[in-house]
Amino acid sequence: MNRIEGRVKVTGLATYAAEYPVEGLVHAFPVQSQIAKGRIRQVDAAQALAMPGVLAVLSSEDPPELAADASGELALFQSREVAYRGQLVAAVVADTLDNARAAAAAVRVGYDPDDHDVSLRADHPGLYKPDTVNPGLPTDTEKGDVEAGLAAAATVVEVTYATPVLHNNPMEPHAAIACWDDEGRLLVYDTAQGTTWSRDILARVLGLPADRVRVVSRHVGGGFGSKGTPRPQAVLAALAARAVGRPVKAVLTRQQMFDVTGYRTPTIQRLRLGADAEGRLTALEHVAYEQSSTLEEFAEQTATPTRIMYATPALRTAHRLVRLDVATPSWMRAPGEAPGMYALESAMDELAYAAGMDPIELRVVNEPDTEPHSGLPYSSRDLVGCLREGARRFEWERRDPRPGVRRDGEWLVGTGVAASTYPARRRPSRARAVRREDGDYLVQVAAADIGTGARTALTTIAAGALGVDPEQVHVELGDSDLPAAPVAGGSMGTASWGSAVVRACEELKSDGREGVADTTEEIEGDAQFARHAFGAQFAEVRVSSVTGEVRVSRLLGVFAAGHIIDPQLARSQFIGGMTMGMGMALMEETLTDEEFGGFLRRDLAQYHVPACADVRDVEAVWLDERDVELNPMGSKGIGEIGIVGTAAAIGNAVFHATGHRLRELPITPAKILMSRF
Ligand code: MOS
Repeated sequence: MNRIEGRVKVTGLATYAAEYPVEGLVHAFPVQSQIAKGRIRQVDAAQALAMPGVLAVLSSEDPPELAADASGELALFQSREVAYRGQLVAAVVADTLDNARAAAAAVRVGYDPDDHDVSLRADHPGLYKPDTVNPGLPTDTEKGDVEAGLAAAATVVEVTYATPVLHNNPMEPHAAIACWDDEGRLLVYDTAQGTTWSRDILARVLGLPADRVRVVSRHVGGGFGSKGTPRPQAVLAALAARAVGRPVKAVLTRQQMFDVTGYRTPTIQRLRLGADAEGRLTALEHVAYEQSSTLEEFAEQTATPTRIMYATPALRTAHRLVRLDVATPSWMRAPGEAPGMYALESAMDELAYAAGMDPIELRVVNEPDTEPHSGLPYSSRDLVGCLREGARRFEWERRDPRPGVRRDGEWLVGTGVAASTYPARRRPSRARAVRREDGDYLVQVAAADIGTGARTALTTIAAGALGVDPEQVHVELGDSDLPAAPVAGGSMGTASWGSAVVRACEELKSDGREGVADTTEEIEGDAQFARHAFGAQFAEVRVSSVTGEVRVSRLLGVFAAGHIIDPQLARSQFIGGMTMGMGMALMEETLTDEEFGGFLRRDLAQYHVPACADVRDVEAVWLDERDVELNPMGSKGIGEIGIVGTAAAIGNAVFHATGHRLRELPITPAKILMSRF
């Protein structure tokens, strides 16, 4: 199907959070900390309050009331302690955005600064073992004897990979409009990946019962994880609206988004791999070092994909975290899998060269019968099918394995491959389906369409379950007053909401008028399986020996991700993900300012993402899987697997082109030239 909201989006009629016409609206603009650690001595708002149109200044001088247990990034102006540079320390409310912004610059904040530490190091004395890593997985796993496996190996690879701070950068900035009614009920137009969870968290932070808060996010211009939980603008708008007795809009600037809407932790990853003479792994170890803030523990699950990928008698994975004077990292574009599989799949490529094997054959000989760390059977797994189909399409058999020998004028040419994986989960959801007076069907679920086409996919799912034409189905989503639903995140939106929609439609069919579903019990009864999608990424690069520029001349992804509900939407998801993987490989990087704390590069002029001209030839195909264990649609999530493996495939292709292995992302022209191939 074409996207249902396609027309309103391309004609500018789709209403995003900042665009709701609200009577009497005024504006809030934040003031940010200029130190990375210390204490606010005082906030002098006198000059700001005297400026045109200013209605109020919020700060810790007179902390606005929040729930006693509000903490972390959302506990605005509750404490005088500064946890990181860029943290919100005050805000001005004024009649216009310009007046609010001008007055914010006039708020004088005095600080007692302390020394800060914003540098992740693998030997940091503050490293510790968190109780779990996201989303509640074991921090460490150990099976067999890694040292013995390495000692017995014919080939050993010991390598360290590093990935930088990355920022989500959705096109639509984080924005909220908050309106209180006369009975003390709060309506927030926010930009959220899930209105149910957003409502629950906002209610908790504000100390309100959940039924007194409503969150509406009908259209969302991307999130990539940064809108998975409410961000400070929503709390700021609510507090400011309460303070001035009028509706308030708070829109973060692109620069502010870099500070307070989350980012991907940098990682340092140590891998040790041993293989016997046939290339079969004798040991595999993956240790990830990561950061969080002093405000909250966020432990990215970087080494977890290594637990499920390859057969080995000895397998150890571990995560260590250090709490620095930085903003709290958060969910971003295949959290865990994207950086973790970059390191694992690069190390596998190194092992293939060290063992003199083809990188595809190395993966094939290490294909496991059951999930390596748990011993569980896979609900379905077709990594080998993806590798074989990709090899056929990419003409892999014509590849000369020798690195650094193909030249086309100034350009060195190489190809690389990497495996991809992402969990196939689902979460409890509710949904309602009703037959309308006019004979059409209305389907309601508090799902979010963050640009993925959720409305369209759910229409297809409902039409299939009802056995009617999709034209007769009308899906309503993006409102916490609708049946409760989990976030669009973890690539499990469609599987979660779709399950509830199918059940509601089934009940409607038997009832004739209405069907209401809650999949909590159904999901609790799910059988024990290892549930993951798999894929294979193939890249061809051209590396300029003059400028060090890397051009990706071909990118092919082959995926085994369950039943594909809508080929057009799926292709967009896959190639969009692969494009993000290209950004991760070659461009995206936020530098941390060691001296002052905070981030350098705070706009899209300096934080580079791929443009159309960078994406020359990208193709995604899939092997449609019939997996009956997953959900009524037989689908696996496809939002994030396109990202995973892409950076490794490109890095491996750069090695094949140049003969030099770069182990720190992104692979910039400067690094290529420094490698002096
Ligand atoms: Mo995604 S980072 O799971 O919203």
